[in-house]
Amino acid sequence: MDLISDIDIIIDEKVEVCDTKILPDNFKAGQRKLYIESYGCQMNFSDSEIVASVMQKHGFGTTSNVEEADLVFLNTCSIREKAEQTVRFRLDHLNSLKKKKPELIIGVLGCMAERLKTKFLEEEKIVDIVVGPDAYRDLPNLVERVDEGDKAVNVLLSREETYADIAPIRLNSNGVSAFISIMRGCDNMCSFCVVPFTRGRERSRSPESIVQEAKDLFSQGYREVTLLGQNVDSYKWAGEANKKETDLAIAQGKPAVTFANLLEMVAQISPDLRVRFSTSHPKDMTDEVLHTMAKYENICKYIHLPVQSGNSRVLELMNRTYDREWYIERIDAIRRILGEDCGISSDMIAGFCTETEEEHQDTLSLMEYVQYDFSYMFFYSERPGTLAARKYKDDIPMEVKKRRLQEIVDLQRKLSYQRNQRDVGQVHKVLIEGFSKRSQEHLQGRNSQNKVVIFPKGKHQKGEYVDVLVTDFTAATLLGEVV
Ligand code: SAH
Ligand code: SF4
Ligand code: F3S
Repeated sequence: MDLISDIDIIIDEKVEVCDTKILPDNFKAGQRKLYIESYGCQMNFSDSEIVASVMQKHGFGTTSNVEEADLVFLNTCSIREKAEQTVRFRLDHLNSLKKKKPELIIGVLGCMAERLKTKFLEEEKIVDIVVGPDAYRDLPNLVERVDEGDKAVNVLLSREETYADIAPIRLNSNGVSAFISIMRGCDNMCSFCVVPFTRGRERSRSPESIVQEAKDLFSQGYREVTLLGQNVDSYKWAGEANKKETDLAIAQGKPAVTFANLLEMVAQISPDLRVRFSTSHPKDMTDEVLHTMAKYENICKYIHLPVQSGNSRVLELMNRTYDREWYIERIDAIRRILGEDCGISSDMIAGFCTETEEEHQDTLSLMEYVQYDFSYMFFYSERPGTLAARKYKDDIPMEVKKRRLQEIVDLQRKLSYQRNQRDVGQVHKVLIEGFSKRSQEHLQGRNSQNKVVIFPKGKHQKGEYVDVLVTDFTAATLLGEVV
């Protein structure tokens, strides 16, 4: 993950992780130019690289300059209202571009496309193409239809699609660290969440194709892979992607590859290839996974384990299927098996339906208990069609939501400070990712716990491992020198 610095999240009053990524130039003479801008999570950023790959085979190359594009794709996010508003504003802006250039084709991809479907075409007249996350193979056909003067929509979700055979063009990458999607969709139905509706049913990709992709990356010089999924711990493979069939096969005694098995297979490629993963759901995170992490030095000691709330009644309303005690037991297991140094981060939602002041305090006390290294923090945003929107009233006033969120943010800042302070005086193994953002005299990389570490460059280079003695820190990064 292009680590979103906790500063951005903490300081931004709106506390949104709404990163935007634009794919860089990669067009050749004679190709039509495609501009792709992506919002939301890493899954979307990775999907955009698959889209670029599909389109390249049909004569399109990417441009980072929207003004010169023949085709503009917005890969959208629906997770919170603000994420959708951002896209609406962007479309307003594109409207003026289209007035100057009527032949410009505009496509909306991703979660918002899936949520709104043909409604998008009615609401936003400038949109020509609406495509859901499982229909990217169809994009060249859809563009052809628009070339012929029609509008085009494909929002079919699939139980099998994993794009396993499409090699993403790794345009977002620094050449050191890459993402590999190991599964798609989500079957969890957390009551606040739109993802099961926009991304469809859970399905896993074959371990052979995942391991092959990781091996290829390693031979190209990559030194870190992050295995990606909405809920990686429920990864399961018994011969095919479809989860229903997989469960049936397992029930009939067919051996299955679990997430712990997969993690081990990737870790064994080379001790010089670091392995990370995201995201883990507390209900599925097994001791087996923790033991596998402990067994391999190259599996990074960092777990993103979103809790959402520290109160069991609220967790029940959220349909998270675990309670406070269960979560604490999982944290204790991490500390028991991987030790105090394992990095832990979380997602938190403030002001969920009917949350009382005391229940909010439970979130704060849980944070104190866990001592999170950092967190992504949000106030509850009701999403149309979700279980919570249908069953519960969004009854916490905005100013209360924001105040509670601020308390969570302030506490996290204190905890991050304390966790960073512990690192001072310690030596960390860092994989160098490139120059630091501020200076060409400094390099930056991450330690096993996923913290950014900055140090004077000396004779070191991107892609190398170095041991760095941490001497100081800021809110978001550790500072040090190579020893
Ligand atoms: N699959 C991941 C989460 C993906 S969404 C998981 O289960 O952990 C990322 C985060 O956005 C969630 O963890 C949650 O904290 C937040 N989120 C999701 N829906 C939200 C909503 N309706 N309002 C506010 N935050 C939300
Ligand atoms: Fe959403 Fe829950 Fe699935 Fe995460 S696990 S994507 S929060 S439904
Ligand atoms: Fe957003 Fe869809 Fe990701 S809703 S967070 S882009 S899965």
